Amino acid sequence: MHTRDPNDNPFFPGPADIRNCVLSSAILAPSPHNTQPWKIKLERTERILISIDRDRLIPGCDPIGRQTFISTGAFLENLDITAGSLGYRADLDLFPEGWPDPRTVPDTPIARIDLVRDGRCIPDPLSTQIPIRHTNRRVFSTREVSLHSTGQITESYEYSLVPFGFSNDRDFIRTTAGFAADAMDIELADKTRRNETLQYFRFTDEEVLKSADGIGLAQSGYGRISRFLIGKFFLSRKKATTSPSLFSGMATKKTRAQVEGSGGIGWLSTKSDHRVDQVRAGRAFQRIHLKATSLGIALQPITQPLADYAEMSDLRSALYEYLGIPDTHTVQMLFRLGYAPTVPPSPRRNLQMFLKL
Ligand SMILES: Cc1cc2nc3c(=O)[nH]c(=O)nc-3n(C[C@H](O)[C@H](O)[C@H](O)COP(=O)(O)O)c2cc1C
Repeated sequence: MHTRDPNDNPFFPGPADIRNCVLSSAILAPSPHNTQPWKIKLERTERILISIDRDRLIPGCDPIGRQTFISTGAFLENLDITAGSLGYRADLDLFPEGWPDPRTVPDTPIARIDLVRDGRCIPDPLSTQIPIRHTNRRVFSTREVSLHSTGQITESYEYSLVPFGFSNDRDFIRTTAGFAADAMDIELADKTRRNETLQYFRFTDEEVLKSADGIGLAQSGYGRISRFLIGKFFLSRKKATTSPSLFSGMATKKTRAQVEGSGGIGWLSTKSDHRVDQVRAGRAFQRIHLKATSLGIALQPITQPLADYAEMSDLRSALYEYLGIPDTHTVQMLFRLGYAPTVPPSPRRNLQMFLKL
């Protein structure tokens, strides 16, 4: 039982409130373009409501919000793991106000969670990996990720509803790099999608400091001086905006190099593509990334080839065929695995900025 200073705003948890701890951990979840698209509402002394911040959607790149729901699944997994490791059970109800439509993003809660003190909770060893897990965009070493390691990864989550595919074959990796590079080219050929990417791309450290979201160069492994030189001379915001082919050409080349430099390619699929499948895939993906982190394996999602807009459909079908996934199923995540030095954490907005009154 937590006491609260009556002068506190009841919507803002104090440091002693368990919800502060679990939510601080939940927002470390991955999200497309690091949009952090979650809204949090607190009720009573133990209840949390999570919904999607529709101002943070990227409808060009993610037209049906599938990636946003995956990222909300990852958020809920972090929350659940952290609550358990602090001796609280997270009683989680998905879609408490009714099941949403699979193509539009509702304003109603995605999850209602009641935190209940429970002496039977056993800490999940993955909880220690939550602050360490990061998307790593370096070119990884070509050291193969072994089937033994991927076996350990699959044991970390409930496999049956979100099966895990994997290959460490070099030809397979090279072919996937071709799909990924072509998909990046398609993604950035459209002005709306390119602008969404530019909106969340941080060209300089100053831009990173200003916004606490988006993707900067540090997570690609560039040091401070390289970042300064790239942002100033090679790829400034002005250059990328006025010369779109320069930006997309560099992104396409980088994507091919990244994927070719991998120790293995993984993917997660589901039989249907309802919102619950996407949340489930996000929870599975988060456990996989946390487990990979604990094994010293770096990971980067490569999700452009899976995009739901029409211009990607031919490439997406060809990729499904290559992976051996029937076109009635949905590949929810595609990612590369490998070995590389760690990268600095990506920014997060302050917890209070997620709270809605
Ligand atoms: C659904 C989804 C799709 C993503 N797609 C990509 C991607 O195509 N390329 C990439 O580099 N990162 C991708 N990411 C990773 C995010 O950019 C990353 O999670 C975000 O920048 C926050 O960084 P962090 O993972 O280091 O905390 C994706 C993440 C999610 C959840």
